[in-house]
Amino acid sequence: MAANHLLLHGPASRQSDFWGLTVASASSQRPLEIVQVSDTHLSQSHAWFTANWPVFLDEMRAQTPDLIVNSGDLSFNGPDNPEDLSFARAAHDALPAPWRAVAGNHDVGEAPGASRLNQQVDDRRLAAWRTHVGPSWWVHDLERDSLGLRLIGLDTALMGSGHPDEARQAAFVEAVLADRAGRPVLVFLHLPPFTADPEDRAITTQCLMFDRRRWLLNCCRTGGVLAIAAGHIHRHSVAEWDGMAVVTAPATSFVNVPDGPVSAMRPLRTGYLLWSYDGINLRHSVIRPRLFLSTDASNWTEADRTTTTLPPRPLAAALF
Ligand SMILES: [Fe+2]
Repeated sequence: MAANHLLLHGPASRQSDFWGLTVASASSQRPLEIVQVSDTHLSQSHAWFTANWPVFLDEMRAQTPDLIVNSGDLSFNGPDNPEDLSFARAAHDALPAPWRAVAGNHDVGEAPGASRLNQQVDDRRLAAWRTHVGPSWWVHDLERDSLGLRLIGLDTALMGSGHPDEARQAAFVEAVLADRAGRPVLVFLHLPPFTADPEDRAITTQCLMFDRRRWLLNCCRTGGVLAIAAGHIHRHSVAEWDGMAVVTAPATSFVNVPDGPVSAMRPLRTGYLLWSYDGINLRHSVIRPRLFLSTDASNWTEADRTTTTLPPRPLAAALF
């Protein structure tokens, strides 16, 4: 799917960029709507990035989508502080719609072959995620009227980890793609399959390792996947791989402003995605509420390369 870009004028309270490929006239049915929020980095003890969560809650109360999916890094430092996971869970339970989440590196750690924070995914970390948040992999069928869309959530920390759950998750993916019964599929991940170049074999903490990337992309291509929706890089991006859209969501938590032209900054701003499926087209809009602040954490991350080393900063007021 080529990613056509149409700029629409959103409601006065927000900015909205609309992305999608129109292949036929839209159905008259109300589309299925999925909000993708990402990289919330919530914590009660290290509450550096909580400013946008109450705004997001208000947005969801006004919108009531069919489902909300957090594409990972719900928590500030889940691998070492399970209480961040339980706090993030409580924050999500205040949402006014059903929600799901996939685990991020700041929730369960990283695959050993692509680790930068010495927080490798292991049984203890996986158990904490499952206790406080939910399953590591899941399938969720959205159905309304004649509309049907299969959503699949996966843990990218397992991919290339060698952990026994890696094979279990792989078998699950292949099974739920095979039995989709004609439904189109939207896959949620934390790490994107690739960043700039799908053929780049360099090991990086920014995306999946090459062999796991190829395995997953090939599974998705033959399994009716329309789009892969990821997070992690704290910026909106749209790519295409052999007919599938590969999209990353902006974060709600913070941005890292790189050296570069001002024109490169806009995709970095905080926001969230609104996916819609009308039976024909799967599209997404970038929503940037006026009350979302784009905190720039790069003064800290340029020195420490991670936000997990920020000092404690207790939450000053109830968040939800
Ligand atoms: Fe991440």
